Amino acid sequence: MKKLQNKVAVITGANSGIGLATAKLYLQEGAKVVLSGRRQEALDEVAEKLEGDFITIKADVSIAEDNKRLIKEATDTFGKIDVLFLNAGIAPVTPTHEITEEHYDTLFNTNVKGPILATKEALPHINDGGSILFTNSIVTQKGFDGLGVYSATKGALRAYQRVLTSEVKSRKIRVNSIAPGPIETPIYSKMGLPEDVVEEMGKGFAQQVPLARFGTSEEIAKSALFLVSDDASYINGVELEIDGGLSQI
Ligand SMILES: NC(=O)c1ccc[n+]([C@@H]2O[C@H](COP(=O)([O-])OP(=O)(O)OC[C@H]3O[C@@H](n4cnc5c(N)ncnc54)[C@H](OP(=O)(O)O)[C@@H]3O)[C@@H](O)[C@H]2O)c1
Repeated sequence: MKKLQNKVAVITGANSGIGLATAKLYLQEGAKVVLSGRRQEALDEVAEKLEGDFITIKADVSIAEDNKRLIKEATDTFGKIDVLFLNAGIAPVTPTHEITEEHYDTLFNTNVKGPILATKEALPHINDGGSILFTNSIVTQKGFDGLGVYSATKGALRAYQRVLTSEVKSRKIRVNSIAPGPIETPIYSKMGLPEDVVEEMGKGFAQQVPLARFGTSEEIAKSALFLVSDDASYINGVELEIDGGLSQI
């Protein structure tokens, strides 16, 4: 029996990295999947390669109206939602003395406002007993230079999740999150840093991981499946670190 047979899953940031790997796995496990992203060309490219029952919807999570439209189009197509995976995020690097208002606003609008407003829009359409999953990060437990505002966004999101877990308890909706360590995805090429700096930074991260390597999106997807499936039926409100042990030492 497939783990998400006939379940409807909405995933943000699904055209790349962790979101895309998870969308593929959910489809393999029988889900109907709504893949959302902010770039139409990336969504089209992904749609050409995927197999299964899915649609793509272009929506920028930092725009309130887009979140509303995303949920409307998703539910118009598939009806009620069983799994909401709020994964879209950005991680531009800026040391504190260079932080601008725009840097702050872009990060908080994308990484905090987006998932919170998408949750608000989706809640009336989520089946009782459904699952909400967020992508946090271990940056709330370890400090990495230049990632101050990014880390703050993930900390804010974690705090929000504790409240949400309680607010939806009467509907038996489970709220969990994954906290990846360094995972090989395109996010590093979007940080606004030269390639050689990204490479050095990557080596530095890998050295700190007890398993001495980056993780893969596929490794994260397996946990993103576990937490929303019945295998995790008594797991609620947690943040699961998937980081090769980095946050634990
Ligand atoms: N990779 C890591 O080491 C790592 C570690 C810890 C946590 N994370 C978290 O994991 C999540 C996924 O990141 P990833 O590593 O898989 O990177 P990724 O490959 O860059 O994926 C991020 C996804 O989010 C989308 N996105 C960004 N801003 C958006 C917006 N305003 N509206 C809609 N979609 C938007 C991106 O779209 P575009 O393709 O258009 O940019 C992309 O599809 C993020 O929340 C990130 O913070 C990653």
